[in-house]
Amino acid sequence: MASARGEFSSRFGFVMAAAGSAVGLGNIWGFPTQAASNGGAAFLLIYLVLAFTLAYPALMAELIIGRHAHANAVNALRLISPNSQLRNIGAATGIIGFIVASLILSFYAIVAGWMIAFCLSSLANLLGLSDLAAWLTTFGLPRNVLFMGIFIVFTIGIISAGVREGIERWSARLMPALLATLFLLVAYVLTLDGAMEGLRVYLLPDFERALSPTLIIAALGAAFFSLSLGVGTMLIYGSYINDDENLPVVGGLVTLVDILIAVMAGFLVIPAMYVALHNGVDIFTATGELISEDTLIFTVLPELFTTMGFAGIIVSFTFFFLMSIAALTSSISMLEVPVAYVIEEHGLKRKTAVFSIGGAIALASGVILLNFESLFGLVIAFTTRYSQPLLGFMFCIYAGWVWHRDQLLQELRKGSPEVEHTLFWKIWPWYVKLVCPVIILGIFMHSLWG
Ligand code: TRP
Repeated sequence: MASARGEFSSRFGFVMAAAGSAVGLGNIWGFPTQAASNGGAAFLLIYLVLAFTLAYPALMAELIIGRHAHANAVNALRLISPNSQLRNIGAATGIIGFIVASLILSFYAIVAGWMIAFCLSSLANLLGLSDLAAWLTTFGLPRNVLFMGIFIVFTIGIISAGVREGIERWSARLMPALLATLFLLVAYVLTLDGAMEGLRVYLLPDFERALSPTLIIAALGAAFFSLSLGVGTMLIYGSYINDDENLPVVGGLVTLVDILIAVMAGFLVIPAMYVALHNGVDIFTATGELISEDTLIFTVLPELFTTMGFAGIIVSFTFFFLMSIAALTSSISMLEVPVAYVIEEHGLKRKTAVFSIGGAIALASGVILLNFESLFGLVIAFTTRYSQPLLGFMFCIYAGWVWHRDQLLQELRKGSPEVEHTLFWKIWPWYVKLVCPVIILGIFMHSLWG
């Protein structure tokens, strides 16, 4: 059964695919800007601690349930439930998860489209087509719709090829390209005047700012988004791992790659901001805060590239190319969630499922673009601030309380016979049972009333 529904062919393939899902705009765009404005190295430290102590256990919950069931989240949560009530709640959680995953893709595709447009704009500049270059970087409905559509077509293309030929093959190609591009860019930016000032800001901890509750909450939210938790993405990738694989180890590898790339992106983006400052670009707001979020990526960095002349065009192309790849290996993992569900639950052919769901998501993106002011921020908040933590909470409850502990242990033993005697088994079970749910709930309460 497992092979009929697709399976990753190797540990490398799985780690590239899952790390590809995890590494995305959240790492390269979100993490560095938050670190820059929240106490630099102190934020980094808190992020590291939270990623290992909370996000990793939650990731393991999804991977183990998925591998055990070799099925999508709806069927998997049903399978591990002992009675019909819990089966229904589990199925509902899975269904909400796939709706949220689709909604996340609908805004993610818009931002990813901008990345492609900015990437092509550098090419246009190179060819001297400055009108086209300007159009590509100016916010407007036709441009937004066109590039969102192009990005969804890429995503559909990869997912329609299936687990091994699509997800694994493309992640294994694109992830090394992403790493190489990132290292090259970091090495180059660090040689520029002003970069050292940025390094100082990034690496000198300001603990007073880092220990505020709001910041810790922001860091945890960032870690959850960054590891693609809470919507069944990692559960479905876990369901494609073969039974001999040592899950705590591969989960650890994925977490490490994700963190490594976020930290590396900090070495790129923060020094780049200070190079921009050195070249006369404004990087502080009127109130003296560092500019962050979209203004940084779509205004400050392009202005920096402009001050760098010809080299700037190449660097700009490389940077937005990197962002586009990172977004693509993440978006395929979002689309796989609803696609796997309708294939397994309703017996649709993969191609039919991919094209109809991909089309529906493109429509949803179109609706967001037509009502950008009112919908864009709303969809992001609804999915990432409220739904993701709540669904992540449910996955922990199912792994920690609902699923029979002996069955869970048996599942882990398949790939690591000695697991009972490891540190993992001493800590993880009560972690997903108590620590993760309590903290996730705490964050959720805070984001509601905080
Ligand atoms: N982790 C990705 C990033 O950092 C985004 C992502 C992929 C995601 N799949 C997800 C986020 C599922 C939430 C849920 O950009």
